Amino acid sequence: MKFFIDTANLDQIREAEALGVLDGVTTNPSLMAKEGITGEKNIIQHYVDICELVEGDVSAEVIAVDFEGMVKEGEALAALHPQIVVKIPMIEEGIKALKYFSDAGIKTNCTLVFSTGQALLAAKAGATYVSPFIGRLDDNSTDGLELIEDIRLVYDNYAYETEILAASVRHTMHIVNCAKIGADVMTGPLSAIKGLLNHPLTDIGLAKFLADHKKGN
Ligand code: E4P
Repeated sequence: MKFFIDTANLDQIREAEALGVLDGVTTNPSLMAKEGITGEKNIIQHYVDICELVEGDVSAEVIAVDFEGMVKEGEALAALHPQIVVKIPMIEEGIKALKYFSDAGIKTNCTLVFSTGQALLAAKAGATYVSPFIGRLDDNSTDGLELIEDIRLVYDNYAYETEILAASVRHTMHIVNCAKIGADVMTGPLSAIKGLLNHPLTDIGLAKFLADHKKGN
């Protein structure tokens, strides 16, 4: 399973990259705003900065909600850097844009996906990635992981190449369960990625090994 980090914070991206397990980055307008990145020029520069920090795909979201606007913005974003993946919302105009970019050989990430039917449409439109938001479903008393399972089943039935990018990941068990189900990618915060390191028996075991080594020397 590929690991993407879901942030626009350059320090966190650097830290995840330094771990050596990072495959890409996802951003969204809220994450950009959280870092205080506003204004078209700054946002564009920030995408380039992120691309220069990592080797994998970097999702950059369009703001337009009409087909022509999405195409114009998406083409400009894709031209910024070869690692850019154009993030398109799951709406009617978005489906048309996904098909357009797929035909043009431009990578896409279909965002704000909350149902299997939406994921099926995204695959048929040729999306590179589909992003089901599992944490936001959980927040609404709906099992986000069940959606990943259902999409996996449908995509496998027809050998769709669209990659399932489990998004809105909140904690380590989301990551572990996504891997068990067979999500192709997960995107989550640095805390969830680094949380995978944790086990008290590892800490206790290491302390004992180091103490015993000291005794013998
Ligand atoms: C996905 O690409 C989104 O940026 C993200 O995963 C949303 O997560 P949230 O529900 O934690 O905001």
